[in-house]
Amino acid sequence: MTGLQERLATGRGKFTPQYADLGTAPVSYEDCVSPEFFEAEREAVFKRSWLYVGRSEQLRRKGSYFTRELPGRLASIVVARGRDGKANAFHNVCAHRGNKVVWQEHPGEESKGFCREFHCKYHGWRYGLDGQVTHVTNEQEFFDLDKNRLRMPPVHCEEFAGFVFVNLAEDPVPLRTFLGDRLLELEEYPFELMTQRYGFRSRIRGNWKLAVDSVCEWYHPPYVHARFIDKDVSKAEKMVPPVDSYHYDLFTPHMLTSVPGPPPLPAREPGTAGPAGRDQKWVYRLFRAGLFGPDDVPDIGPQPEFLNKGRIRAWSNDQFWLFPNLSVQIWQRGYYITYTYWPESVDSHIYDIDLYFVPPKNAQERLAQELVVDSTIEFAMQDVNTIEATHSGLSTRANQEFHLSDQELLIRHFHKTVRDTVAAHRAGAEQEEAR
Ligand code: FES
Ligand SMILES: [Fe+2]
Repeated sequence: MTGLQERLATGRGKFTPQYADLGTAPVSYEDCVSPEFFEAEREAVFKRSWLYVGRSEQLRRKGSYFTRELPGRLASIVVARGRDGKANAFHNVCAHRGNKVVWQEHPGEESKGFCREFHCKYHGWRYGLDGQVTHVTNEQEFFDLDKNRLRMPPVHCEEFAGFVFVNLAEDPVPLRTFLGDRLLELEEYPFELMTQRYGFRSRIRGNWKLAVDSVCEWYHPPYVHARFIDKDVSKAEKMVPPVDSYHYDLFTPHMLTSVPGPPPLPAREPGTAGPAGRDQKWVYRLFRAGLFGPDDVPDIGPQPEFLNKGRIRAWSNDQFWLFPNLSVQIWQRGYYITYTYWPESVDSHIYDIDLYFVPPKNAQERLAQELVVDSTIEFAMQDVNTIEATHSGLSTRANQEFHLSDQELLIRHFHKTVRDTVAAHRAGAEQEEAR
């Protein structure tokens, strides 16, 4: 047991008080229902943070590109691998008359592909892989036009551990500085081996921060996820690991939760479905997979040191929270999941879940992966169902103060980080004005 786990286990309020800044007072959820706060958060957080937009595997070679419609009309961007091998990002807007340059059948949909140049569909202006104008149709008809100075407006873009990030600010801190030492350790993980992707996207009628909250504590599972655990809630309550089984860490603005899981199943007899775990239904037995991953784990080399730092005995996953809206969850059974939360408005967000596995070698492995995907998405949908209910409750403003327990410290930390970021941005803007 780590010092932190001991503190959590030995009584009330043993952990949160260690972080004097967090306080222990009831909290306001105005940050999730106020349209003014939403606007301020968009300026201070989303227009100034490094935002995850895709994996490097989507930009395999020079000329590979994809577009992203960042929800809530935050931005429409193109990300392309340039001739120099570097990923570039730019706003998907033509320098002639503002048409969206890169799209296929439907202008509102995201697209991807491979090309040498981008062509605007309106009047045929062309752009290089760095977003620079390379051709102006009937150039001689324009007035004092220097095409070398025209481009799709650039957006900062950096790659880290195969994750592609963009930043809409003019002069952001470098990505690696923003991530900090603890997250830089992620680079040791063999993400590049896990190229089998299963993606899922949904619109959730609730503030995006409520969705983050719902995955930062293990207080809710016996109730929200009873169907997965036991229909009898009193039994489900006993089956969820106690509060001291988890490990939490804060490295502001980012954070981490480590989660225990069931002990591994005995090795599989070739040609058989293997023995059943106590909590597994027949379909899990048959496919040898479930919510905690496939039972037959691919060989991806030794487990890197940076995982399971809390030394949980039956460790199942580490969920790294990269501020503001990405979570990378690395599982003991050799796969990972990204969760991204994109606000559209104060009461709506787009939720992306992507699961990545080592490509399956046969049908049995493929079915096992699909069952993991299916279980994960069902589990996630149970969470978001509750978020819609929470948002509708909060928006009545009938209650103004809410109570967070010691094990909800990540929630306390996350909302405070968002509020602090908004406050710092406001203070900076006021200073500017005063000058
Ligand atoms: S708007 Fe793009 S070429 Fe005219
Ligand atoms: Fe949950």
